[in-house]
Amino acid sequence: MQHAATLAPLTARRSGPLKGRVRVPGDKSMSVRSLILGALTVGETRVEGMLEGEDAMSTANAMRALGATLERTGEQAWRIMGVGVSGFAEPRAPLDFGNSGTGCRLAMGAVAGCPITAVFDGDASLRSRPMRRILDPLARMGARTVATADGGRLPATLRGAVDPLPIVYEIPVPSAQIKSAVLLAGLAAPGTTTVIEKEATRDHTERLLRLFGAEVAVEPHGGEGRRITLTGQPELAAAHVRVPADPSSAAFPLVAALIVPGSDVILEGVMTNPLRAGLLTTLLEMGAGIEVLDRRQEGGEDVADLRVRGSELSAVDVPAARAPTMIDEYPILAVAAAFAHGTTIMRGLKELRVKESDRLAAVAEGLRANGVTVEIDGDDLIVHGTGTVAGGGLVATHMDHRIAMSFLTMGLASAKPVGVDDASFIATSFPGFVSMLRGLGADLS
Ligand code: S3P
Repeated sequence: MQHAATLAPLTARRSGPLKGRVRVPGDKSMSVRSLILGALTVGETRVEGMLEGEDAMSTANAMRALGATLERTGEQAWRIMGVGVSGFAEPRAPLDFGNSGTGCRLAMGAVAGCPITAVFDGDASLRSRPMRRILDPLARMGARTVATADGGRLPATLRGAVDPLPIVYEIPVPSAQIKSAVLLAGLAAPGTTTVIEKEATRDHTERLLRLFGAEVAVEPHGGEGRRITLTGQPELAAAHVRVPADPSSAAFPLVAALIVPGSDVILEGVMTNPLRAGLLTTLLEMGAGIEVLDRRQEGGEDVADLRVRGSELSAVDVPAARAPTMIDEYPILAVAAAFAHGTTIMRGLKELRVKESDRLAAVAEGLRANGVTVEIDGDDLIVHGTGTVAGGGLVATHMDHRIAMSFLTMGLASAKPVGVDDASFIATSFPGFVSMLRGLGADLS
């Protein structure tokens, strides 16, 4: 997906109470996975509620280049005719994943089980991110990394295995992307492929694999971990996937409604999978006025409507063990912490350094530029909240959608406006963010 090359600065100003009822776009993790699994499945997979953001679209283009047929049949509705496990065709050109680490890394797993060679590439942000964490386990399954840029970075050329080997792999850092890449490669291997994670991470791959007919066993491992075993070479069956609203996108209007006094917003159909719900838990501990309404199941996931009201927040100590369940939400939690009373400590954030940007540095820099006192202590982020934020700063977004959305949210309640240098990357995960927030009453221009 070609990303617009020009910077798109945007400013958020102190706004009146936010009011309304909205549904944020479909979950990015599930959208990307349904595209890849659909492409690996013979027959017609239908996806409803697809995220039509750049990350999913670049993944869709890559699946086309690998031989699958994908078409949009309506608003957020897609039809995928896949090629079967191990059935990818060799792409004629490099696969360009744009900004999408998830699309790239999961596709590496899927390609690793096919006897083809493919070049993986992305934008400057994705080219700066570590790929050895994926390529190393795939090498143990028989896929050869033919070339990478320095430090195991993109562009990378991967030659898939002719006879993939099943492995037992204990992932070294909590990462659903590593887990998913190994499981997707394991589809093509005979016997069972096992992934052991010391801390449970989002389980959408496991759930969707089952929906597509694969056999996946999940057992507890140690205190917080899981042992996931996939039976290889299944006959995947085309599925109907319903994608709930993305909790990581809902996080922005949610925190906006909390920090803008007098707000009352309902967020519809938000996924509340416990492995994605760390932000909700944390905000409730901070005293947030959030009501969880109409809990139900949608597309095999727990969802609910969230009613959010402007609230006085108090500081909190977020344990490191919670990080995998809210790994993408620390930038917006740091904004909530800036408006809270007292010192919030967010522990164990090492992985934030290797996201779309170095989020630990980008968050601290953005908060400081707007008069918030913040420290980084090892892997911990410490925000000294006073209940109000001065604002008045211009924030560097570093090609990172969540940095852009977090600081625009901050500007809706700070004394002076908050600007971001480039809001264009918001389109990777949350197309319609600006118009949705404006519809609730936010002053963004
Ligand atoms: C994701 C996993 C997380 C997360 C990313 C989406 C996924 O990354 O940060 O935005 O869909 O599997 P890691 O697995 O690298 O922690």
